[in-house]
Amino acid sequence: MAFPDIVHRAIKLTGQLTEELHGQLENLGTYGTRDLNILVRHLLYPVSVNTLFKKDLFPTNKRKIMEFHQHFQAYDEGFEHGSQIPECFLRNWSKSKRWLLAFFEKNIPDIKSYIPEKDNPMTLMQALLDIIETETSEQSPNYGLLLLWASLSNAVPIAFWTIGFVLSQPSIHKAIMESISSVFGTAGKDKIKVSEDDLKKLPLIKWCILETIRLRAPGAITRKVLKPVKILNFTVPSGDLLMLSPFWLHRNPKYFPEPELFKPERWKEANLEKYAFLDGFVAFGSGKYQCPGRWLAMLEIEMCIILLFYYYDCRLLDPLPKQRSLHLLGVQQPEGQCQIEYTRRT
Ligand code: HEM
Repeated sequence: MAFPDIVHRAIKLTGQLTEELHGQLENLGTYGTRDLNILVRHLLYPVSVNTLFKKDLFPTNKRKIMEFHQHFQAYDEGFEHGSQIPECFLRNWSKSKRWLLAFFEKNIPDIKSYIPEKDNPMTLMQALLDIIETETSEQSPNYGLLLLWASLSNAVPIAFWTIGFVLSQPSIHKAIMESISSVFGTAGKDKIKVSEDDLKKLPLIKWCILETIRLRAPGAITRKVLKPVKILNFTVPSGDLLMLSPFWLHRNPKYFPEPELFKPERWKEANLEKYAFLDGFVAFGSGKYQCPGRWLAMLEIEMCIILLFYYYDCRLLDPLPKQRSLHLLGVQQPEGQCQIEYTRRT
């Protein structure tokens, strides 16, 4: 089934994303220290859920928020095994999956009847339900969960790593702070709106996100071979699985010189205005089935970084953790904690 086109839908969401992020940033107060991963989750879980499914769908009650975090994390952490091993061997994972499915089952009628405000387009989940419910509504909660997982499990760690890489490289951090000030003014006093034109003036942030995605790309993308396919001197028979590794391809110096280095400036060469990445970059897959959420992910992370850095002076209190051993299905996760200190700019 083809997913609704999110490429052009994404850019219309700038206003809504700004508003949602303002709401979450207000909860940070004037000063604090926190694990960066937890901070990013507290910003992006509600922003993604409210934008992709329905405004105000994300719980606001403290206990319910914790419950959502707990179940999504348990589901995400067990996903790689859960997609291969019978559920009876993974009791906690299965319990969290059922909780999340029940969350969607309960809310699907409200998602369908929700009328987006002003100029906002229908939400992605509404567009998806329009397509799938022409045949059956039985699978609607499962599609909800698929969309939730696909968006959060990748966008959250990428936001974590991007903020981490930027804050651990003073010259890049300084350049980003200067570019934000040049567009929005020096201190984070005013409630700013971020337009498409503003984003065009902040290319370095986009390059940093893409460079992060390159370095933390998924371990593998898998396809089942339908007809025998010849690759060099080998013929791969139908029924076999073919896997491509974005993680390792992105470490090929032919495409990415000094591949282990975080070098955002290499993205100068990409024609991003025409929605084209660099040759050899396959973090979102390629062709007909590539990630339909790629531009939304970029936009969401861009907005998160702009607003966080506009309102807060941030610094890491710990060195950036290593990545965990290779994660096949999604992007790479951090191995340990990393505290961040944030102080409201005045
Ligand atoms: C940096 C963040 C992201 C990365 C690296 C990423 C990566 C990927 C990859 C590698 C695939 C598989 C492509 C293939 O099989 O060829 C995929 C599929 C998918 N992604 Fe993303 N993704 C990201 C963010 C998102 C977001 C924010 C959304 C939701 C809005 C999303 C929705 C989806 C969906 C629904 C699919 C399944 C498409 C299908 O099977 O037809 N992704 N993504």
